[in-house]
Amino acid sequence: MSVKNILEEELSQPTVFRDETKLSIDYTPLQLPHREEEIRTLARLFRILIENPGGTSKKVIIMGSTGTGKTAVSKRFGTMIQDVAKKKNIYLRYIHINCRQCKTGFMIINRIIQHFNPKFPRRGFNVAELLHILSNEILIKRNAYILLCLDDADQIITSEPSLLYHLTRIGDDSLNSKQRLSLITIVKNDSFRKTLDPSIQSTFQSSIIHLEKYSSSQLRDILKARIKEAFFDGTVLNETINLISDFCEESGDARYALELLWLAGKYADEAKTFQISPEFARKAKANLDPGIKKEIIRDLNLHQKLLLLAIARRLKKTEKAYVTMGECQASYQIICEEYGIKSRGYTTIWEYIKELANISTFLNTKVTRLEDRPGQTTLLRLNVPFEILEQIMENEIMNEIVVL
Ligand SMILES: Nc1ncnc2c1ncn2[C@@H]1O[C@H](COP(=O)(O)OP(=O)(O)OP(=O)(O)O)[C@@H](O)[C@H]1O
Ligand SMILES: [Mg+2]
Repeated sequence: MSVKNILEEELSQPTVFRDETKLSIDYTPLQLPHREEEIRTLARLFRILIENPGGTSKKVIIMGSTGTGKTAVSKRFGTMIQDVAKKKNIYLRYIHINCRQCKTGFMIINRIIQHFNPKFPRRGFNVAELLHILSNEILIKRNAYILLCLDDADQIITSEPSLLYHLTRIGDDSLNSKQRLSLITIVKNDSFRKTLDPSIQSTFQSSIIHLEKYSSSQLRDILKARIKEAFFDGTVLNETINLISDFCEESGDARYALELLWLAGKYADEAKTFQISPEFARKAKANLDPGIKKEIIRDLNLHQKLLLLAIARRLKKTEKAYVTMGECQASYQIICEEYGIKSRGYTTIWEYIKELANISTFLNTKVTRLEDRPGQTTLLRLNVPFEILEQIMENEIMNEIVVL
């Protein structure tokens, strides 16, 4: 059956989902139950950007463990303050940058400039020149201000400690000049501060907002709000909501709760039933626990996803514990053909595999001697059931191809 026919057949199936995208990682809900206080605190800290634009450069750190809503809170607040500024004719832009994707100061400043000027060349300038362009040719010329959010900044703060200092000094080199950039820095914990040079530490004399882990009953409220948006009425049983909230009580992780809910919904669809019973949540938990976390998958490129699918498919066929690099490449080429995508060469594939093994908990590489002739080969091991990885990757790849 061709890919097109499979898709058409799937689209004609009944589903419990009213709008699945409302559970996706990129969607920021309008309401964030149990985070109203934190958003109010942000409003208090940043009201100066509206009342006296340019008067000061404000710096705030949002801290909290995985899935406590750091990204969601910042994005929701950023959009709100940008809207309010617009109404008051203040040119304030909220720019959200994930530092796991933009890994250097150069990439970050480039991204900020491209926000204002999408045609700006990606190469050809050094960091100092980029800062000058951003300050003089964009912000001062347009009388614009930025509220920049550096998300997942734990690494970059230690690797490029002077970056934040330079960013927050933008527009500060003449007398009575305006402060053009304020900053929200999102980190998981404050261990980064110990590693910093004391002269840089002063940049961090900023307010810190701690997001506590969600309790089981808070997770219940969060799930209920998202269920209204994502599912048809009456499809998710209360029992199921309670069970998922309890599953996630220890981690206090809303993302994990939403992932379980999404997967439970997928299982209900697969079983062609309109009720998401607790058994589907249990099944989802059994399958997600090996550790295929969405925050890792969202940063993979299309070819890494194709490679993971290739490994999963190969294991499904062979029922073996390992896949050789050669088998992986062959399977990958077939899958690329299936999706009509040009495959990458061996060296690139190998780089991608090494990176996958580095960042994920679900893939390992192992070098071993060849049995039949001299030399070595690399074996790939999957730490999660191939069935789940296959399903997740097929969905991921399909989403990406539809967007293309
Ligand atoms: N209070 C809330 N109400 C509704 N949805 C929420 C709430 N808090 C978090 N979420 C949702 O849970 C998921 C995880 O939240 P978010 O991405 O903001 O977490 P995070 O703290 O940034 O985690 P990480 O450190 O892993 O990046 C998102 O889909 C988000 O929309
Ligand atoms: Mg986040």
